[in-house]
Amino acid sequence: MKEAIEAHLRQVEDFVPADATALEAFRVAYLGKKGHVTGYFTAFKSVPNEEKKEFGQWVNSLKQAVEAKIDAYREQFSAAPQRTGEDTTRPGVAFQPGAFHPITLVRNEIVRILERMGFAVAEGPEMEDDWHNFSALNFPPDHPARDMQDTFFLAQNPDWALRTHTSSIQVRAMAQQQPPIRVIAPGRVFRNEAISSRSHCVFHQVEGLYIDRNVSFADLKQTLLEFAQAFFGEQTQIRLRPSYFPFTEPSAEVDIWWGLENEVDYRMTKGTGWLEIMGCGMVDPAVLAASGIDPEVYSGFAFGMGIERIAMQRFQIPDIRAFYENDSRFLRAFQGAL
Ligand code: DAH
Repeated sequence: MKEAIEAHLRQVEDFVPADATALEAFRVAYLGKKGHVTGYFTAFKSVPNEEKKEFGQWVNSLKQAVEAKIDAYREQFSAAPQRTGEDTTRPGVAFQPGAFHPITLVRNEIVRILERMGFAVAEGPEMEDDWHNFSALNFPPDHPARDMQDTFFLAQNPDWALRTHTSSIQVRAMAQQQPPIRVIAPGRVFRNEAISSRSHCVFHQVEGLYIDRNVSFADLKQTLLEFAQAFFGEQTQIRLRPSYFPFTEPSAEVDIWWGLENEVDYRMTKGTGWLEIMGCGMVDPAVLAASGIDPEVYSGFAFGMGIERIAMQRFQIPDIRAFYENDSRFLRAFQGAL
């Protein structure tokens, strides 16, 4: 009998309850009507008189050990939240899921399409030096884009500025890798411009750059057509208008056929039916040479598009300022969009 009690005592000492339920089961197993301790007390009657004293001590120490264990844990478990008589059938507070910002949605889609076509994402800093933002891109020293009007220069060092376009990442990509180069660079850009419903001093662009042997203007045109049809719809038509950028020659502006059926179309396309979506061109040989790529061997094309313009068109957002006001009613409208 003594061995049995001692075995129980060891079990009691080793017992660690996982929760209140386990503790209660433990209590019932020892102190309940059919519990071990109760059983020993019943057996007490049939123990010979001369052994009663010692037996009683063993059983008592087992009982005390059980009670001590219960006391030690009861408080810990009862510290868990108690029902306070509240109505637990009341509906809970709904969890508010977040939403991707419309700029993020459009950027992700542009990036996904171009990645499928073999472009890899490249990055660059938002604070740039004159070389990467202007000089290496063939901006003459007196080019108006360098004017204090357009660029946020750093007060401490006017050789540094907030990048005015993602084209600066072209220069970084060319410095880092040898052709073939096939990169896109989404990013935030900054211009010292008056804020209105159509322009802002902070906005986003996606840049593209492809350099290899024998890259032609036809490659550029076909790449942009594929992109436009993947993004705007299979039937989308594009047109390229001659334009000028210091870093491309020839340069073009790309329009997509939007249509001219109602007043909104008329307003969005300034009465032409065509919507301008990006600038592009063949990388100027001077730009290749400035980055250490031999223009006799390699050629390339580049393009750059503004994300805001495309997002405004896609989501029918009439004012660019809505993107930066963080009005939760505006942001909530994009919940669930991927
Ligand atoms: N960087 C130009 C801008 O900010 C956009 C652009 C035009 C990028 C032509 C290009 C390009 O890569 O080839 O307006």
